[in-house]
Amino acid sequence: MKHLLFSLAFAASFLCCNSLAAAPAQPGSFKVGNKTFLLNDKPFVVKAAEVHYPRIPREYWDQRIKMCKALGMNTLCIYIFWNSHEQQEGVFDFTGNNDIRAFVQLAQQNGMWVIVRPGPYVCAEWEMGGLPWWLLKKKDIRLREQDPYFMERLEIFEKKVGEQLADLTIDKGGPIIMVQVENEYGSYGEDKPYISAVRDCLRKSGFDKVELFQCDWSSNFTKNGLDDLTWTMNFGTGANIDQEFKKLGELRPNSPKMCSEFWSGWFDKWGGRHETRGAEAMVDGITQMLDRGISFSLYMTHGGTNWGHWAGANSPGFAPDVTSYDYDAPINEAGQTTDKFWTLRKAMEKYSGDYDPVTGKWGAPKKLPAVPKEFPTIAIPKFELNEFAPLYGACASNVEAGLKTFEEMNMGWGSMLYVTDLPDIPVQSVLKIDAHDYAQVFVDGKYIGKIDRVKHETSLILPPVKGMSMLSILVEGMGRINFGRAIKDFKGIVSDVTISAEVLNIETTWKPKAWFNSAIPDSYQNAIQAFEGKQQLIQALEKKKNAINIFIKGGLSKIGYYRGYFNLKKTGDTFLNLENWGKGQVYVNGHAIGRHWYIGPQQTLYVPGCWLKKGQNEVIVLDVIGPRGEQTIEGLQKPIIDKLNLDRPQTHRLEGQNLDLSGEKPVKEGEFKSGNGWQEVKFDQPVSGRYVCIEALNSHNNREYCCIAEWYMLGANGTRLSRESWQVAYCDDEDIESGNKTGDKIFDLQESTYWSTNRGVQFPHYLVIDLGQDQTFTGFQYLPRVEAGAPESIRQYRIYVKSSLFKGL
Ligand code: GLA
Repeated sequence: MKHLLFSLAFAASFLCCNSLAAAPAQPGSFKVGNKTFLLNDKPFVVKAAEVHYPRIPREYWDQRIKMCKALGMNTLCIYIFWNSHEQQEGVFDFTGNNDIRAFVQLAQQNGMWVIVRPGPYVCAEWEMGGLPWWLLKKKDIRLREQDPYFMERLEIFEKKVGEQLADLTIDKGGPIIMVQVENEYGSYGEDKPYISAVRDCLRKSGFDKVELFQCDWSSNFTKNGLDDLTWTMNFGTGANIDQEFKKLGELRPNSPKMCSEFWSGWFDKWGGRHETRGAEAMVDGITQMLDRGISFSLYMTHGGTNWGHWAGANSPGFAPDVTSYDYDAPINEAGQTTDKFWTLRKAMEKYSGDYDPVTGKWGAPKKLPAVPKEFPTIAIPKFELNEFAPLYGACASNVEAGLKTFEEMNMGWGSMLYVTDLPDIPVQSVLKIDAHDYAQVFVDGKYIGKIDRVKHETSLILPPVKGMSMLSILVEGMGRINFGRAIKDFKGIVSDVTISAEVLNIETTWKPKAWFNSAIPDSYQNAIQAFEGKQQLIQALEKKKNAINIFIKGGLSKIGYYRGYFNLKKTGDTFLNLENWGKGQVYVNGHAIGRHWYIGPQQTLYVPGCWLKKGQNEVIVLDVIGPRGEQTIEGLQKPIIDKLNLDRPQTHRLEGQNLDLSGEKPVKEGEFKSGNGWQEVKFDQPVSGRYVCIEALNSHNNREYCCIAEWYMLGANGTRLSRESWQVAYCDDEDIESGNKTGDKIFDLQESTYWSTNRGVQFPHYLVIDLGQDQTFTGFQYLPRVEAGAPESIRQYRIYVKSSLFKGL
């Protein structure tokens, strides 16, 4: 009896304080205890909502925080976006929408704890993963490594973050309970000394007492895991929870478990299907974790918007993200509830009491806070944008020299116009350009074609030209890559432009050296300059024969800024429909609203009502390819973020392609094991080639379709080869109906996304990868889907390798 009483008292003292009560302003403590976090010495399960302050207008922060709270969350998890705070080297901004201190204090006023993730790198589908573009002015910089300049700038920045937030940690009476060191470094490299240096820098910046942690994938975290930091895992909806924590449990059996990013949905890229993830699977993952007392952060609970030029891009390849960061999250882009919200709220209610780690049970549920009011939405009748200012009129600086990148022109974001004289080429020629990211080519003002990095395009055919014709190339930069090694993403024309032709049987190549480089920065002020006629480019080009006439009459004449106005009696959130427009940027009352591109899937842009006013409102659309229809816009009450408008589907099987493997001998055939986790297969001897064909003969669950999450080829010394130049040369079947499950998902560096064939299409299935050049392999690594039981994993397979393309492709 005595024993029982003691156990009850012991259990009671360990009832955790997951309460929804306000975070106290007195000093407290948050520690890592035995298999549990301890908040003021009591067990605590973190139920965090990831939200990003720069993706939400400051006027709406409070409503969004209350929405998260109404979901039963007790914590907010935020990244700090370095490039938003230090847009120019040494010029810091922690005001307005960048006021992180105010955001954290607001969280505390709302009774929420805060987890801060100050990078320096954050990924987050944000331009360059949060790193400032101006770091690239040092061309040979080693980002996210112990490059002296990188470390110097990082230390200066984190010190500034410390000045804002270090006195808001829990030990000083603030709401900050944990601070993250770097972000998912395992998918970038292995470098414990660098991670240690970032840790030390954060400690020095004032985060000396607060709990520090690292996050990574379960397949990666040991690579960079430091002994003195807490390790947390990132994975998404549908993942096999026990599998995800298996390795951590083996290595640190007493560590509390936390999923630091549980992906509620996924991000969208231009030209790809809108991503969704089912509410049931998401809620199932969360309840599985809560049933085990596992802490989590729901990434994203509310995604928000990539205003202006802040959307990043994914790699391998170049896959720029759309403006909306709705993420199919429970709270949508406009801060409204969704079905997912209500399903989650219902489930979370059961876990709103106190958790008892001894019994593994949750106490009596408490009433969740009321759901705050949503902001009203309004429709805006169609209005015209009939003022126009050409883009070349917005040029801010010109340099007559060799080819310059944006960074060399000291420009972060925007477009560049490159002009040069062509030699006399009496026949057709091939123009080669490595353009980041979207180039349009004009000869004497006539539009010749485009070179789109998204589509891996690098060349086009020029017509015969007479000597002294003018070649103009307009290059629009999109978001810098935010993931993988490719984050060192210079913009503009990044290597020599060449023109090759066979003249009189002789192959001749020209490399124009004298270029007129004109920088056209992306900013509202610059757009206004264009309307005010401060046409520096024209003045600069006046010396050039006919240049102005060529621009005015040629294809460049419809490329530029379009301005229109609408009047409001009542303001409200709205979604501007850009379906009539081409590609570019939108500004409303001076606010940079974001990118538009007719290819979709996003067709409308979210404009928060707090940025509108009663009376006249101004809209400027920068269109770098020109409108496609009427120069009008209307405001809708519902978004359109799932409408693709492509010339050809994003699948990889071209018309007429029929892979023919007759006469081909596999370099390896075998059977994969069933179940989750990476598998490695070694070839009997090294093989070389450029094209790798994976043939799937059947699946483990005998269903009629198959999936692959990730695939690596192993090089001569058994290490993974870079996949940056990989492309899908052929894929017999891809499911783009139930999601974005194209063949390239097997090398997108994301374990949670996968290639899937369509149900009902018979085996065998084939995927041919083009590695870009001949390479030597000693084997490969394969990851089936990460969901429990690895659904639709391949059983028997054959691998073929060739230097030339397979027959039939
Ligand atoms: C990773 C990163 C996040 C984000 C997600 C995908 O987990 O850490 O910043 O990029 O992937 O949305």
